[in-house]
Amino acid sequence: MGAAWRAIRDLFRRAGIDTAELDARLFAEAAFGMDRLELVNRERELVPAEQLKVLEGYAARRLKGEPVVRILGEKEFWGLSFRLNAATLVPRPETELLVERGLEIIGPLDGARILDLGTGTGCIPIALLTEYSDVTAVAVDLSAEALEMARFNANRHGVGDRFTTLKGSWFDPIEPGARFDLITSNPPYIETAEIATLMPEVREHDPRLALDGGADGLAAYRAIAAEAGLFLKPEGALLLEIGASQAGAVHDILVGAGFAGVEIARDLAGLDRMITARLVAAP
Ligand SMILES: C[S@@+](CC[C@H](N)C(=O)[O-])C[C@H]1O[C@@H](n2cnc3c(N)ncnc32)[C@H](O)[C@@H]1O
Repeated sequence: MGAAWRAIRDLFRRAGIDTAELDARLFAEAAFGMDRLELVNRERELVPAEQLKVLEGYAARRLKGEPVVRILGEKEFWGLSFRLNAATLVPRPETELLVERGLEIIGPLDGARILDLGTGTGCIPIALLTEYSDVTAVAVDLSAEALEMARFNANRHGVGDRFTTLKGSWFDPIEPGARFDLITSNPPYIETAEIATLMPEVREHDPRLALDGGADGLAAYRAIAAEAGLFLKPEGALLLEIGASQAGAVHDILVGAGFAGVEIARDLAGLDRMITARLVAAP
């Protein structure tokens, strides 16, 4: 086992991959179905041909520039493992800020109802559902493949019975008259022209539908702000992830759409990252 993964590590080193050892170990653990300790303990054993083929398959993809999380198809978010497919964005650590804020908002409520727009892997609502057992969530995405993954992830984390997926654009699939305590969204917010300048891991492997926010990056915020008021309870909150330079513009879009209590929050790197908006400003 040891010789097999070290051969891959050496290949990665020669290819200039900074994380050669870590990547090779992670692939070996996944290909051989072992944890780190077992990989060490079974160091001298020979690898069955089938498993070696899997390992070599992973290595070939990595050498072509595919990120490790894409190859393994799993990413940790809020301490939970989320399965990915080609239609889902890899959940980012900064999006956990929305979960933290969302928990503060729904914590005092009984049986809160959440709507997550552009759900991808379902990471935001699923994380929230695992924290409170009386909460229910509706998750919308334009991609049926993303919703399949979100459904899988919700079932995997034991919240599938409180999680509904709906396919369509933003509020289109929501029944008129439905009202939510919390609407969350991490929408696509990259300017179309900027996508070509992103790191290859993102540009070539995250789905375009998850990135492209239109010419000025703000198309999704306009669409969501225009209708969110119709689907929020009077005391409800809208929680949006934003790009670091978008706070002013999204603030203005929300105020223009009738929102009052608009608060901007920064991430750990000190960058504007999230906006909370309410129909009625907090007293
Ligand atoms: C930036 S990704 C966020 C995914 C996930 N919420 C997360 O934080 O990892 C944006 C998501 O919005 C979806 N999307 C894009 N346009 C949409 C639309 N018009 N209506 C609904 N979902 C849309 C994409 O398919 C993608 O899953």
